[in-house]
Parts: sequence; C-alpha cells; structure tokens
Amino acid sequence: MKMMPLLGCMVFLGLAGLIVAQDAPVADKPAEAAYLGADKCKMCHSKQHVTWTKMKHSRAIESLSAEEQKNAECVKCHVTGYGKTGGFESMEKTPKMAGVQCEACHGAGSLHMKAPKPEKKNTINGKGTDCRECHSPHVDVNRKKGGEEKKEEAKP
Ligand code: HEC
Ligand code: HEC
Ligand code: HEC
Ligand code: HEC
Repeated sequence: MKMMPLLGCMVFLGLAGLIVAQDAPVADKPAEAAYLGADKCKMCHSKQHVTWTKMKHSRAIESLSAEEQKNAECVKCHVTGYGKTGGFESMEKTPKMAGVQCEACHGAGSLHMKAPKPEKKNTINGKGTDCRECHSPHVDVNRKKGGEEKKEEAKP
C-alpha cells in the first residue's frame, strides 16, 4: 500500500524530467527577456513605429555630446536597456540601441516577440513604464535652453 504513492511520484518525476528535457532552455532558465531594438517591433507595430519616429524619444541620443554619450550618468535615460541583455553598451558596439526606444517604456521584448498570440499581452508591459522614471522634476532640463525657458515660466 505504501508503495503506490511513491510509485506514482516516481512516474510523475519521470514525466516531469521528460518535459523539462524537451524544452530545456525555457524550463531551466525562466523568463528573462532580452532587448531587441525598435526595428524588430516595427514588423508587427508599424503604426506605433511611425508615431515614435516623430518623437524626440527616438533621437534622444543626439542631445548628448560625444563625451556625454560615454557617460553612464547621461545615457541611462537617453538610450534603451542600458547594461541589460541586448541593451545599449556604447555607440561603437550597440548604436541601434541608442535613443529612448519602444523597450525603454515597454520592457525587453524577446519573449513577447516569440510568444504565440494569446500570450502576447502577458509578455510585455502594455501600460508602459512610469514616465517619471526618466522625467524627474529633479532633472535639469534647462541645461541647454538657458534663458528661454525662464521666459516661459513668466507666463501666468
Ligand atoms: C510577431 C509580431 C510581433 C512583434 C515582432 C512584436 N509584437 Fe507587440 N504585439 C503583437 C500582437 C499580435 C499584439 C496584440 C496582442 C493581443 O491583442 O492580444 C501585441 C501587443 C503589444 C503591446 C500591447 C500590449 C497590451 O497589453 O495591450 C505592446 C506594448 C507591444 N506589443 C509592444 C511590442 C514591442 C515593444 C515589440 C518589440 C520589442 C513588439 N511588440 C514586437 C505582435 C508583435
Ligand atoms: C527611458 C527614459 C524615458 C522614459 C521612460 C520616458 N521618457 Fe520622455 N523623454 C526622455 C528623454 C531623454 C527625452 C528628451 C529627448 C531629447 O530631446 O533628446 C524625452 C522627451 C519627451 C518629450 C518631449 C519630446 C517631443 O517629441 O516633443 C515628451 C512629450 C515626453 N518625453 C513624454 C514622455 C511620456 C508621456 C512618457 C511616459 C509614457 C515618457 N516620456 C517616458 C526619456 C524618457
Ligand atoms: C533621470 C533621467 C535623465 C538623466 C540621468 C539625464 N537626462 Fe537628459 N533628459 C531627460 C529627459 C526626461 C529629458 C526631456 C526633458 C523634457 O523635454 O521634458 C532630457 C533632455 C535632455 C536634453 C535636451 C534638453 C532640451 O532643452 O531640449 C539634453 C541636452 C540632455 N537631456 C542632456 C543630458 C546630459 C548631458 C545628461 C548627463 C549629465 C543627462 N541628460 C542625463 C532625462 C535624463
Ligand atoms: C515614452 C514611452 C513609450 C515609447 C518610447 C513607446 N511606447 Fe508604446 N505605449 C506607451 C504607453 C504609455 C502606452 C499605453 C497607452 C494607453 O494605455 O493608452 C503605449 C501603448 C502601446 C501599444 C498598445 C496599442 C496602442 O497603440 O495604444 C503598442 C502596440 C505599443 N505601445 C507599441 C510600441 C512600439 C512598437 C514602440 C516603438 C516603436 C513604442 N510603443 C514606443 C509608451 C511608449
């Protein structure tokens, strides 16, 4: 009598082993998505891609000088996936990840891209990250505009 549950257990473990072996990459290393870049998203989201190219987000790297582009303290908000798998490293190595791209707001997209249709929504941040992660009131946005911005403030 005591053997039955144990046997059941062994059969179950055997099966589980089989399943794990079959899709080992996924089962072993659960769900850490990699960054892909906006070109990949464009394939399926051409409309959003068009609106994005019209925003300064897409060109945010151009606001930084060559020196500033090497400064971690600057690039972290002006590029995509800085220091993460597939994300921005440097202008030499990963120019395609410069600028505030889709994944800077929606999170890394590799799992989303591969997912079957019913899983698409569960594999991406549809709401987008909190804008305040980068748009902090403590960031000095007047560093280049200088006096112009002050005039704006003078309005009632
Ligand atoms: C192979 C096609 C495909 C690619 C490539 C793709 N997506 Fe999607 N995406 C979809 C589909 C299909 C849906 C809609 C799913 C649904 O309505 O259930 C979707 C939905 C979304 C949504 C909305 C999710 C929600 O909660 O409503 C976002 C955001 C998104 N994708 C971002 C991205 C980003 C960022 C990339 C690039 C990293 C990307 N997608 C690449 C097919 C794709
Ligand atoms: C990853 C950092 C990051 C996130 C997240 C982010 N932004 Fe930005 N945003 C920037 C940077 C950097 C610029 C400046 C681009 C430039 O001029 O170089 C910018 C510029 C802008 C601008 C002015 C650009 C224009 O085209 O007129 C608006 C508006 C804006 N962001 C809105 C938003 C909103 C709304 C959200 C949240 C949904 C958001 N941002 C999230 C980094 C971010
Ligand atoms: C916390 C995130 C963050 C960091 C860190 C950051 N920026 Fe930005 N930067 C932004 C955002 C957000 C904007 C867009 C502000 C807006 O237009 O509302 C911006 C805009 C700019 C602009 C355009 C401003 C304009 O007047 O059009 C320049 C230039 C800039 N940043 C340079 C830098 C430099 C240089 C550094 C490093 C010393 C840096 N940024 C670090 C978030 C950041
Ligand atoms: C600055 C942040 C930001 C960037 C950059 C961004 N998105 Fe979004 N996106 C959002 C937010 C926030 C929403 C949610 C809007 C809502 O809930 O109404 C959204 C919604 C979406 C949706 C859902 C359908 C829709 O249009 O509302 C899709 C798909 C999507 N984004 C794809 C993309 C793709 C592809 C890119 C790059 C080409 C991109 N996004 C770039 C913030 C961003």
